[in-house]
Amino acid sequence: MSQGRFKNPVEATLTGIKDLFRKQDLADHLSEKDRLDGKVCLVTGANSGLGFGIAVELARRGAHVIMACRGGIPEKGEEVKKLSGSDLVEMRRIDLSDFASVRAFCAGLQNDGIRLDVIVSNAGVAPSRGRRTVDGFDEIFQVNYLSKVLLYDLLLRSGVIPNDRFAGNGVRNGPLPRILFISSDSHQGASAIDWEEFGTYFDYGINKAMSNYSYYKLMLNTYATELARRLTRSDGSPDVSVNVMCPGPVNSNIARDAPPLLLGFMKVIFRIFFRSPAVAARPVAYLCASAEVEGKTNYYLHMFNEKQMDPKCYDEAAGALLWKRSYDLLGLH
Ligand SMILES: NC(=O)c1ccc[n+]([C@@H]2O[C@H](COP(=O)([O-])OP(=O)(O)OC[C@H]3O[C@@H](n4cnc5c(N)ncnc54)[C@H](OP(=O)(O)O)[C@@H]3O)[C@@H](O)[C@H]2O)c1
Repeated sequence: MSQGRFKNPVEATLTGIKDLFRKQDLADHLSEKDRLDGKVCLVTGANSGLGFGIAVELARRGAHVIMACRGGIPEKGEEVKKLSGSDLVEMRRIDLSDFASVRAFCAGLQNDGIRLDVIVSNAGVAPSRGRRTVDGFDEIFQVNYLSKVLLYDLLLRSGVIPNDRFAGNGVRNGPLPRILFISSDSHQGASAIDWEEFGTYFDYGINKAMSNYSYYKLMLNTYATELARRLTRSDGSPDVSVNVMCPGPVNSNIARDAPPLLLGFMKVIFRIFFRSPAVAARPVAYLCASAEVEGKTNYYLHMFNEKQMDPKCYDEAAGALLWKRSYDLLGLH
């Protein structure tokens, strides 16, 4: 049976607050000179919370930002333009709980001839109970994990993310494309992937929901590690750089689905202790824009600290099996 690190949201919140007091080793490595002029950056879930903060920060640094969202179109894009002082912001619709929407979104980018330099997979949910999607999966499994596999398969095979491995259009001279997964350090200590449960829908309540959140982040990190492996050339250099980060506690809408009493408590704690999306977006900007990150892959930051993921995320056999089982579920061979 799969098991996450935390059994309830209070335990997770207190751990997050403790993390905020740790020294941030790389905090002064991001400077205003880290620019993204001429780069096309995609941010999923950019209408709210951390994703919104990332969109503003990347646009402010000169990027053409594509906000991939299921809501807030067009008003959130207008807000990003105003806050960043840039007009290079567009919104496109994607619903990660619906594979047809993911496919339509990717086809749109391909048809418009877009080439992505940076992709931030930020969108995520923390539902308080099981919810079945139109595709028959549990929402948290599909949104936080499986749709990302579909998204990257489509973007890599079509060459929308330039690469040699799947499309033969990799970058020869110049900065490599960067894929960044927004994960959570709560994945540390979650159980190994349960292959019997894999992809199966079952009902659950609030306690299992919290546990699921960190369990699926461990699954996501295992996939990211496998993707980084597959996007590494035979000489060991990356074809595309694939990194993972945890933003630490962010004052966002992530707890929106909590029961009313708990939500009231969480909102107060979030407001007092958690970091604003603008501050939490800074290590993301570092990973997207800094020359120091060029050529790095399978790199993990917890806020501004370099760290190792849970050892299970680096298990090559688990990574290969996860790839296969995910492609089986998606019918993508
Ligand atoms: N907040 C924290 O303390 C914290 C800590 C560690 C990691 N994280 C991670 O940070 C990321 C951003 O979360 P957040 O804290 O900023 O929460 P948030 O404010 O709730 O933002 C989540 C974003 O994901 C989008 N999203 C959810 N379901 C979607 C779907 N089916 N299709 C497309 N977009 C969808 C949401 O869009 P809608 O507004 O339309 O629902 C929203 O834009 C998540 O991956 C989360 O796990 C957060």
